[in-house]
Amino acid sequence: GGCKQLQIAIDGPAAAGKSTAAKKLATRLGGYYVNTGDMYRTLAWAVLRAGVDPRADEAGVAALLPQWDMHYRPAADGGLQLYFNGETVRQDDIRAPEVAAVVSYIAQIPAVRAWMLSRQRECRALGVIVMEGRDIGTVIFPDAKYKFFVTASPEERARRRFLQKGEVADGATLATVAAEIAERDRIDSTRATAPLKPAADARVLMTDGLDQDAVIEALLARIAVEDRP
Ligand code: DC
Repeated sequence: GGCKQLQIAIDGPAAAGKSTAAKKLATRLGGYYVNTGDMYRTLAWAVLRAGVDPRADEAGVAALLPQWDMHYRPAADGGLQLYFNGETVRQDDIRAPEVAAVVSYIAQIPAVRAWMLSRQRECRALGVIVMEGRDIGTVIFPDAKYKFFVTASPEERARRRFLQKGEVADGATLATVAAEIAERDRIDSTRATAPLKPAADARVLMTDGLDQDAVIEALLARIAVEDRP
């Protein structure tokens, strides 16, 4: 028979513990982990490299899109590799603080979201996918069989992000990290197109005080036996 297709949507705010949980869930289910935040970060990185200001020049950003392409392809390690215009995307590039500073502006541009919509829906063809983002359950796969909204208090998220280091600027403190996260949340949840919010039929999981194993078990407990390998 053909490849079984199943979409599991995991949405939630920044630094809520979604990525680790989504990655592990994909492994447990024998599927692929798809990180849509990396797609937005890659676009932000490319816009900066093109010399266009994502904050001030929405039309300039939209004008770049038709000549660009982006997609995930299975990689040798069993996971997925993101490609931008035929080249592999480097995590070092897209995790830079300059990219984090502008990605929310990129993500609120309607032309960008429309461009992402078709590319993210194409991921269905990969088979069993655990897709992480902000609007997967609400917009990208409204009929996903499973939808989760993974969240944590702002204080907990700031603490987690601060401990991750890699992504925080030199000289950052817990307070500056908390302010940055609050600003991104505000932009992500108040934008007109596909704002961050739980789908009406999503299961909301609050992860304060839960370790990673507890989060993954909570998600897995909701997956029907027929969908486990
Ligand atoms: O998950 P992340 O923090 O790497 O996402 C980076 C940014 O991209 C974040 O500010 C919100 C935006 N984003 C989005 O608007 N929609 C998605 N599906 C994924 C990310």
